[in-house]
Amino acid sequence: MRLFVDTGSVSEVEEIAAWGVLAGATTNPSLLAKEDGDPGEIIRRICELVGGPVSAEVVSSDPAGMIAEGRALRELHEHVTVKVPFCEQGLAATHALTAEGIPVNVTLVFSANQALLAAGAGATYVSCFMGRLDDISVDSGQVVSEIVECFRAGGVTSQVIAASVRHPEHVVTAAQLGCEIATVPAKVLRQMLDHPLTAAGAERFRADWESRPEFGDWLRALVSERATATRD
Ligand code: G3P
Repeated sequence: MRLFVDTGSVSEVEEIAAWGVLAGATTNPSLLAKEDGDPGEIIRRICELVGGPVSAEVVSSDPAGMIAEGRALRELHEHVTVKVPFCEQGLAATHALTAEGIPVNVTLVFSANQALLAAGAGATYVSCFMGRLDDISVDSGQVVSEIVECFRAGGVTSQVIAASVRHPEHVVTAAQLGCEIATVPAKVLRQMLDHPLTAAGAERFRADWESRPEFGDWLRALVSERATATRD
């Protein structure tokens, strides 16, 4: 499963991209509304940083408006994927945009039936909102599992994005169920780093090594000899 970052913040993308784990990013109008600066510049910068698909969402409510916004957003950068909200108008826009070769992420999908309609319209990606399903006491794992199963059984090529990810367990569930992608807020990606045994183990390695100062001298000399040799 590939990891995207779900954010409108360039600094968050800079931070997480430096880890080397990012395959893409997703924004939405709510995330971009929290940021200062020109949305187009933000989207372009995120595209450059992740070097993979970056979803930017249309806001019109009619197909013609969605299509016009989608074409314009796509022209911001070759990595832009047009995000379209699930609804009748969004399906029509998805059909038109994908027919032009523009990748589309259909968002706000909460059921397997909606996912099948989005796939039928040609969606490149279908985003199922796990956290918002859990918020209304619907088992998000069950819904994601139905979507993945329906797509696999029918040979659907649309990729499933686990979205509205609220905690690391959502990421594990999405991976176990076969989602191609999870789009994860920076806060949750940071939580995924942590394990108390990792921190304790690293501290123990450091302390044991430092108990032998001559070992530190040896490693520094090894690095320095190599640097000298490769300079020559
Ligand atoms: O990927 C969709 C996401 O941004 C929505 O998350 O936490 O607002 O439900 P949330």
